[in-house]
Amino acid sequence: MQQAEKETAKPGPLASVLSIFNTTIGQKIITGLTGLGLVGFLVGHLAGNLTLFAGSEAFNSYAHKLESLGFILYAVELGLLAVFVFHIVFAISVTSHNKSARKSKYVDSRSAGKPSRKSISSQTMIYTGIILGLFTIIHVWMFKFGPGMAAGYHTDLHGLPARDLYRLVVEKFKNPWIMGSYSAVMLLLGVHVRHGFWSAFQSLGAYHPRYTPLIYTLGILIAVLFAIGFLALPVYIFFAPLTA
Ligand code: HEM
Repeated sequence: MQQAEKETAKPGPLASVLSIFNTTIGQKIITGLTGLGLVGFLVGHLAGNLTLFAGSEAFNSYAHKLESLGFILYAVELGLLAVFVFHIVFAISVTSHNKSARKSKYVDSRSAGKPSRKSISSQTMIYTGIILGLFTIIHVWMFKFGPGMAAGYHTDLHGLPARDLYRLVVEKFKNPWIMGSYSAVMLLLGVHVRHGFWSAFQSLGAYHPRYTPLIYTLGILIAVLFAIGFLALPVYIFFAPLTA
């Protein structure tokens, strides 16, 4: 009797919500939503980084303003970390599910034509994603958790002591290996976002004969903007006669 009750018992509301994590479509939706969230972060990050072109005071003031947000910044960073982790975990899960479901691998790497968006970009998502994940860990360690005021990276901002993040960034990008590897990863970022942006809308079920091509084109534009925008910084710093 008890066994029969167990079998017919309906899952509770929380269990129903959590069950989305176990379905491929649910995982695709989460990958897409978190991917779009990361695009939003990158738009803000790029805008902030571009202040570097305006010189050390502008860039250090921007970084200092972020730092002075205190608790709010910690909360945003925690949310960002969660978005990164969810994006990576579910993207890996969807990819491995797709791989095992697909009996034969793609033998033809050419685009499959209009309805499909098969491209080098779409077939390398997991690899470009892994490289970007590793890059992000090294990158945050290099700058966010890099040397601070105690290590001599301090400056004067309107009479107040602040971290000289500008000096750290300039010093790093004057190194040809760091400049070169950053530039290569920024190109891969463009490749990843080119397919990811469009794919996220597909996963969310946004299909419309008129708007889908627009979303696809917008994805390409954002990818080019990210690649050029983020690449401009290391290249400019390396070649410009800047002193840290
Ligand atoms: C040339 C391109 C880039 C430059 C110059 C740059 C610069 C920086 C700097 C200086 C910081 C430290 C900010 C601080 O401590 O206040 C930082 C943090 C960070 N960057 Fe970048 N970044 C670049 C590209 C990227 C890319 C492509 C990603 C992601 C794929 C990324 C993800 C992050 C993250 C997650 C943080 C930590 C944010 C936080 O915790 O507040 N960055 N970046």
